[in-house]
Amino acid sequence: MFSLEGKTAIITGGGSGIGKAISVLFAAQGAAVHIIELNAAAAEETVKEIKEKQGLAFAHGCDVSSQQEVAKIFTQIGKLDILVNNAGIAHIGKADTTSEEDFTKVFEVNVKGAYNTLFAGIPLLKKSKTAVILNMASIAAVVGITDRFAYSMSKGAIFAMTMSVARDYMADGIRCNSISPARVHTPFVDGFIAKNYAGQEEEIFAKLSKSQPVGRMGRPDEVASLALYLCAEESGFVTGNDYPLDGGFIKLNN
Ligand SMILES: NC(=O)c1ccc[n+]([C@@H]2O[C@H](COP(=O)([O-])OP(=O)(O)OC[C@H]3O[C@@H](n4cnc5c(N)ncnc54)[C@H](O)[C@@H]3O)[C@@H](O)[C@H]2O)c1
Repeated sequence: MFSLEGKTAIITGGGSGIGKAISVLFAAQGAAVHIIELNAAAAEETVKEIKEKQGLAFAHGCDVSSQQEVAKIFTQIGKLDILVNNAGIAHIGKADTTSEEDFTKVFEVNVKGAYNTLFAGIPLLKKSKTAVILNMASIAAVVGITDRFAYSMSKGAIFAMTMSVARDYMADGIRCNSISPARVHTPFVDGFIAKNYAGQEEEIFAKLSKSQPVGRMGRPDEVASLALYLCAEESGFVTGNDYPLDGGFIKLNN
């Protein structure tokens, strides 16, 4: 079950955290994995790890917000069955504390980045018999999270993008879903705690862990397992949906 043998997968942000876990698992299941990463060295590290386990993987240094760069790499790859839009950046701020520059940056990466890979990837996916797109949204798309103005809006856009794409390309046999994780322990989380709460790291980590009713953060491999199901042929009946992976965050927090 859940074999990805013979499939070509493109995973953005596969150099770290959730994207790395997805890349490693998909390669272990037989996919040829192409990692599209701003941090080329991190992508190379993931590729090295995959190759050590006899998997097939390639690193591509690329900023997903550049349509030109994305188009060039997708053309080079030339074949695509699975597209995972995972690259994303965090941001802390409310409407009146978010600068225009930060607002634009979050949208350039989190929203335009996904559009760019769709623009380049859909013509290739149309040629696949088992085409599937998976977008990384967030619980922030549907629940009001304190101090996450631009980030939440960007993930709301990913949620809507998922439904729009699932509808538009159904006739082409392309499925499209999203995952909405609550807090997952990755460098993304450590990075913004260090940047925004210096000196209070432990306290904030414990607070963020408790914000999931199960009392902990998720793990990247737990997101990767759901990603595998949603990208494998076993989920052929699944399209146009968002899947919360949230330790009870959305429905059990009271
Ligand atoms: N970690 C969480 O708690 C959490 C929760 C919900 C949703 N998410 C989402 O999951 C995704 C992955 O998060 P993570 O925690 O693994 O993050 P991470 O920071 O550990 O990894 C993200 C990767 O994306 C890459 N990246 C950033 N900007 C890029 C760009 N412009 N072009 C190409 N690559 C770029 C980074 O270099 C990094 O390797 C993000 O979209 C994030 O919003 C994370």
